[in-house]
Amino acid sequence: MKLVTLAIQLSTVLATTPVVLWHGLGDRYDSPGMTGVADQIRDIYPDIYVHSVGLSEDGGKDQQMGLLGNVREQVESVCDQLAAIPELKGGFNAIGFSQGGLFLRSYAELCPLTNASAPVLRKLITFGSPHNGIADMPLCGPSDFLCKSRNKLFKSQVWTKNSQTNVVVAQYYRDPNHMDVYLEKSGFLADINNERQQKNKTYDLSYLEKFVMVMFSEDTTVVPMESAWFQEVDLESGQVTHLEDREIYQEDWIGLKKLGKRGDLEFHTVHGQHMEINDDVIETFALRYLGDDDDIKAGDDFVFVNQAK
Ligand SMILES: *[C@@H]1O[C@H](CO)[C@@H](O)[C@H](O)[C@H]1NC(C)=O
Ligand SMILES: *[C@@H]1O[C@H](CO)[C@@H](O)[C@H](O)[C@H]1NC(C)=O
Repeated sequence: MKLVTLAIQLSTVLATTPVVLWHGLGDRYDSPGMTGVADQIRDIYPDIYVHSVGLSEDGGKDQQMGLLGNVREQVESVCDQLAAIPELKGGFNAIGFSQGGLFLRSYAELCPLTNASAPVLRKLITFGSPHNGIADMPLCGPSDFLCKSRNKLFKSQVWTKNSQTNVVVAQYYRDPNHMDVYLEKSGFLADINNERQQKNKTYDLSYLEKFVMVMFSEDTTVVPMESAWFQEVDLESGQVTHLEDREIYQEDWIGLKKLGKRGDLEFHTVHGQHMEINDDVIETFALRYLGDDDDIKAGDDFVFVNQAK
């Protein structure tokens, strides 16, 4: 009896698959928050290899590159970065925070499928990531006029060549009420979501073992918050179109339908504002997805109550 218990305990703390993290906007790869997540994963799975993606070894520069730069080139530089890490050769699991989750998904589409030296992604977990883009800037308080005028300025310049090659958030801006201009000018998202008429057949995520999407229930930073579940929201009418009812899924532009049919797409909610993640949330997801024990099957949607709130 005791031996059985011990065996179960051991089996839940074994993990040999390395983990790659990619931080969100405003954060940096070596911040206390990111270091804390890596430490927590190592506490649960001793000896596990964890790598935090940075676009520069200089953390301040990395933080700045989360705001300004060409996203496509940034993801391609991460292909080289990960290819150069011997520990990742056999593949890795990944956790992406906010826009870092979108970029890790882009890595999965762009790199291992065309270049054998880029390590494959096995399970991908994204927290509050704008997979379907953002249709607005973070919402402003009712009398925050500075915020409102900044958003207005952003929107007036979002489709310029400079924004679409240099301003990171502009490269995943997507307003469903203005699809023509988006499909014509989007510097990043329209390509990576394979939304243009000419499809790129190599963009196929179905090789992932699992794609786990987490939405924050009170998110006002990613607008609409349902983008984290790859849903489309018409901000004017409020109508939400679920992923399964969208063309990107039904015509399987990037392999999501194959994942869904296999039961390997999962949708979860964490209560709270954007990126309001505490240790319990990290622990729950780490135990559920990062161990070698594959016996845990996809269940119903589950919800974590963020203790910090
Ligand atoms: C494949 O990736 C490696 C490492 O990133 C890179 O050095 C090499 O040039 C790539 N090969 C091709 C054909 O793109
Ligand atoms: C599809 O994407 C791959 C990876 O980025 C690229 O190498 C290839 O040229 C693209 N094909 C087309 C038809 O755009």
